[in-house]
Amino acid sequence: DIAQVTTVAALRQAVAAWRNAGQRVALVPTMGALHKGHLSLVELARSRADRIVVSIFVNPTQFAPNEDFARYPRVLEQDTAQLAGASADLVYAPPVEVMYPDGFATTVSLGGPATAGLDDVVRPTHFAGVATVVSKLFIQAMPDVAVFGEKDYQQLKVITRMVHDLDLPVEIVPAPTLRESDGLALSSRNRYLSTEERALAPAISRVLIESARRLRAGEPVATVAAEGRQTLAAEGFEVDYLEARHADTLASVSGTAEGPLRLLAAARLGRTRLIDNMAV
Ligand code: PAJ
Repeated sequence: DIAQVTTVAALRQAVAAWRNAGQRVALVPTMGALHKGHLSLVELARSRADRIVVSIFVNPTQFAPNEDFARYPRVLEQDTAQLAGASADLVYAPPVEVMYPDGFATTVSLGGPATAGLDDVVRPTHFAGVATVVSKLFIQAMPDVAVFGEKDYQQLKVITRMVHDLDLPVEIVPAPTLRESDGLALSSRNRYLSTEERALAPAISRVLIESARRLRAGEPVATVAAEGRQTLAAEGFEVDYLEARHADTLASVSGTAEGPLRLLAAARLGRTRLIDNMAV
């Protein structure tokens, strides 16, 4: 069985006991509805720390009013059972009033990767919500390390930037994207897909793989990206973006770019928005 806490005081008490015993503590922040991608983060955390805290909190401030906050899957018991199997040590599942008590008035927002012109264009308040809740989680748990998936690549860059800028004493460890056998990146939102949409969904990763191959072969960034967008549109996606960016800063690139690049895409199938990205 796995311990579960819902308050900041109880979380701090558990973590303080471990720290006093000289143990290293890892935090894996999630919104629950856990899948093997999340569990791979826990596994990576195990290689970096003695104790693993997994937070489960569907964070209202990172959802826009038109988004899926209300219907986001909430399956805490299943999640807890999975985490016990993955030998995490503690589940931190605060209610909304603990995270955002009455009168809450502080926001952590940043420029740089949070304003790169990718997910922030479609979701202008999203990264401030993420940065605010992740700062709170770091301050609440005081972990030595925290693991974030490359699946949400812009988010990973936002968190890394924020930790630098605020001198937060947390090491950010990136984890590779776990995929289904047909290439679709695992996501809690995949369960929204109809059978037909699920069959189409792996096109995103196929287009990213093919685009990465063409960029490595020296084809111009603008052409490759535009043709990737066309392919996805022809397959039935509404494409928000498909772009090659500098892998580290997410800055735009032009011509035949030098330096490490990352391809990033977001596209909608019906009501479901899928994101994915790949190293070039
Ligand atoms: P959530 O979408 O639940 O994701 C939690 C963590 O799991 C993130 O770091 C995400 O990148 C990672 N993840 C998701 N799918 C993955 C996959 N297929 N392979 C590897 N890692 C994957 O991201 C959030 O929650 C929230 O924004 C959060 C950071 C918890 C703040 O509320």
